Amino acid sequence: MIFPIYVYGHPVLRKVAGNIEKDYKDLQQFIADMFETMYDSDGIGLAAPQAGKSVQLFVVDTTSLEDEDPSLKDFKRVFINPLILERTGEITPFNEGCLSIPGIREDVSRESKIRISYYDKDFIFYDEWYDGILSRIIQHEYNHLNGILFTDHLAPLKKRLLRNKLNGISKGKFDVDYKTVLPGKKKGRRE
Ligand code: NI
Repeated sequence: MIFPIYVYGHPVLRKVAGNIEKDYKDLQQFIADMFETMYDSDGIGLAAPQAGKSVQLFVVDTTSLEDEDPSLKDFKRVFINPLILERTGEITPFNEGCLSIPGIREDVSRESKIRISYYDKDFIFYDEWYDGILSRIIQHEYNHLNGILFTDHLAPLKKRLLRNKLNGISKGKFDVDYKTVLPGKKKGRRE
C-alpha cells in the first residue's frame, strides 16, 4: 500500500515519534509499505511521520545514487528506534530536499560522521558509524522522528526568505506526482 505523504505544516511532522515495540502490529507489512511509498515518490529516504505515523522508523535505499558512489548501490535498510550517539567530523553543506517540502532544495550544514544505534526489521541491534551521503540521509531522516525538518537548520535570513513558499506548500501550492495530505483546515472555516 502506498501512503500519501504529509506535507509541511502538518502537525504530525512536528511531533516526537514514539518507540516501536517488538510486537508492533503488522510491522513487516508497514515496512514494506514504507519502501513502496518511498519508491513511488522517487525518494531515497522516508520517515514514518511523513506517512502520518508518529513512530520511530525510517527507511533508506540509495541504489539510485550508485552512479555517484558505487558503494551506495546495495544500501537498503530500515532503522527502528534509532539513536544518534555521536556526531563528529567536519561540518559540511549539502543540498537537501524533502518529499514533505516539495519544490524546495537548500544547502544544509551537518557533521560529516555519525554513530547510530538502531534495530532492524527483525529487532536485531546495531551500533554503527556512517559518513558521506549515508550519514547525511540518515541525519535528515532521524530529524523527522524528532519533529525537525531540514529547513529548521537554515540561517534566519534564509528561513525568512522561504516563509511564503513554505506557507504556500501548506496550502497545496506545489505540483508533485505522489499523493499528499495537507495540514487540516480550521474548523468552521469556509472555503
Ligand atoms: Ni525529509
